[in-house]
Amino acid sequence: MSEWALVPLRLFLGATFVFAGLQKLANPAFTNPASSISIQHQMAFAVTTSPIGGLLAHLVAGARVIGIVLAFGELLVGLGTVLGLWTRVAAAGGLLISLSLFLTVSFHTSPYFTGSDIVFFFAWIPLIIAGGGSRLSVDAKLAQIAARQQGAPPPALVPIAFSTVQSLCGHYDDGRCRALRALCGPQHCPVLAGERPSLYDRRHLDVVDRRTLIAGTSAVVGGVAGALAIGAIAAEGGKILSSGASGGGRTLSPTPTSAPTTTTSAPTTSTSASAAPTTTTSAPTTTTSHPKGTLLGSASQVPRNEAASFTIPTNGDPGIVVHTKEGAFVAYDAVCPHLGCTVGYAPSMQLFACPCHGSEFEVMTGDVISGPAPHGLTKLDLVEGANGNLYLQ
Ligand code: FES
Repeated sequence: MSEWALVPLRLFLGATFVFAGLQKLANPAFTNPASSISIQHQMAFAVTTSPIGGLLAHLVAGARVIGIVLAFGELLVGLGTVLGLWTRVAAAGGLLISLSLFLTVSFHTSPYFTGSDIVFFFAWIPLIIAGGGSRLSVDAKLAQIAARQQGAPPPALVPIAFSTVQSLCGHYDDGRCRALRALCGPQHCPVLAGERPSLYDRRHLDVVDRRTLIAGTSAVVGGVAGALAIGAIAAEGGKILSSGASGGGRTLSPTPTSAPTTTTSAPTTSTSASAAPTTTTSAPTTTTSHPKGTLLGSASQVPRNEAASFTIPTNGDPGIVVHTKEGAFVAYDAVCPHLGCTVGYAPSMQLFACPCHGSEFEVMTGDVISGPAPHGLTKLDLVEGANGNLYLQ
């Protein structure tokens, strides 16, 4: 049963890193310098807050490339870990990524255990020490195939009673070695780790190792090609989806109310037959002007004490507009200043709440009420036009 011990950890870490990589690749805002959730923005922020800020200052210029490498790195690490393919290498990569995210993103998280990167860092260590194990692992499968081709049965873990190990390799009684072997000690013990089983010819084992390595390398090359293809598909899919993104929940759509036009019918006055004077009043047309800015939609789309989302045209970030209980309209960049999750409006408490680490923000000012967010939400300039539409200035 113990050979299954690492499988849940492996699947969780692998699936999480695959998801994290795809999420970055599928989000165009991640590499858009105008967005507050972009890698450029995060690195620039980390320069002033991270303990390795001096190093980051030299890397900010290449932030876009670093972001793409990071996303593909997470995808590859995740796939390798889920599949159990070169698990130790994948786990070492995962540990490096978690360490760099800890130093740049969550270093100041308090208390420290609420930041996930430090937990991920330590979670990778068992996989580096023990590898992927013998269950649900491509590495183990390839080793079995190579061993079978070489005519050697695959290595297997066999539980042995400790008394058996003592009798074979080391057992002192009354100061005398009672082991079956002449030398008491682990050096020549066939059942302790560190010594090859003597069952097979050493050359056979080398061939098995070599074949396993070659097959593993081929699988890794195939996996890298697959990851590149998956990443490219995710990136293209993300572009298509974001071009028609709604932001989730109630969404503002720019369906303008037509500007009222008043036309006065032209009065015509005619007198009797003689020199009949005719008066024609030119038809006056009144057009109601509306504020400058980007039309978000009709204010009637947002009932009182409810919110609607939209995409901020200048940076692609999610925006949120709230129609307060008192009747005012306020809008914010909905990106949480802590780690970039999207905040939502909680009507029951009349505040903004972040689903990731629980930061809460005041609805009229955007100021932080509680939680780890270092500052408030970015307020947007919103105007309600006389025509009943909302405009972003
Ligand atoms: S992302 Fe952490 S509180 Fe919002």
